Amino acid sequence: MVKIAPSILSADFAKLGAEIKDVENGGADYIHVDVMDGHFVPNITIGPLIVDAIRPHTTLPLDVHLMIENPDQYIEQFAKAGADIISVHVEACKHLHRTVHFIKSLGVKAGVVINPATPVAMIEDIITDVDLVLLMTVNPGFGGQSFIKSVVPKIRQVADLTKKHNLSIDIEIDGGVNPETAKICVEAGANVLVAGSAVFNYEDRKAAIQAIKNNI
Ligand code: DX5
Ligand code: ZN
Repeated sequence: MVKIAPSILSADFAKLGAEIKDVENGGADYIHVDVMDGHFVPNITIGPLIVDAIRPHTTLPLDVHLMIENPDQYIEQFAKAGADIISVHVEACKHLHRTVHFIKSLGVKAGVVINPATPVAMIEDIITDVDLVLLMTVNPGFGGQSFIKSVVPKIRQVADLTKKHNLSIDIEIDGGVNPETAKICVEAGANVLVAGSAVFNYEDRKAAIQAIKNNI
């Protein structure tokens, strides 16, 4: 079963609780929360305070994607705020093994993320320790960018690695997902699709989520 994780980056921040309820009722499986610090990526978005504020508005897992430098400093705050999954970029972690195990020690699922230009080899030695691998199909920082197709072979590489190690972890794709690109990602082995603009830019979120699910 493929899961859809709408990214609230493209939601109306003035009514975030209602926006989340809307996609939950529309068939979302995770709520994807994009955290940006203006250093690791050239944009600033939300922090633990917002995660804490939205927590009571949904029973869906909060899938927190940290696009920040020095994530170790903030992981505990996000866990306390109610994150169910916390993913960190390998490009931002000096001691990835320590960071992954720190996340797990807080009772939260741990994910690792790689940018489009980062090879899968960078996560090979940690894949047996994580709950999720997230592959960026855009350069992180903004919603509404175009899908970078050259990442697709990396989805296959990660899927092969999970088979090799007999793992049943999530393989998540983030950036430029729409019904067309969703199909390509799922065929390559992805089972969680983040979708920001392809869900929130449509009036009828249920139909938008269904359009993605119908095409895979
Ligand atoms: C990009 C974020 C994505 C983004 C996806 O830095 O990590 O989650 O919101 O937005 P779309 O689906 O519009 O590409
Ligand atoms: Zn994201």
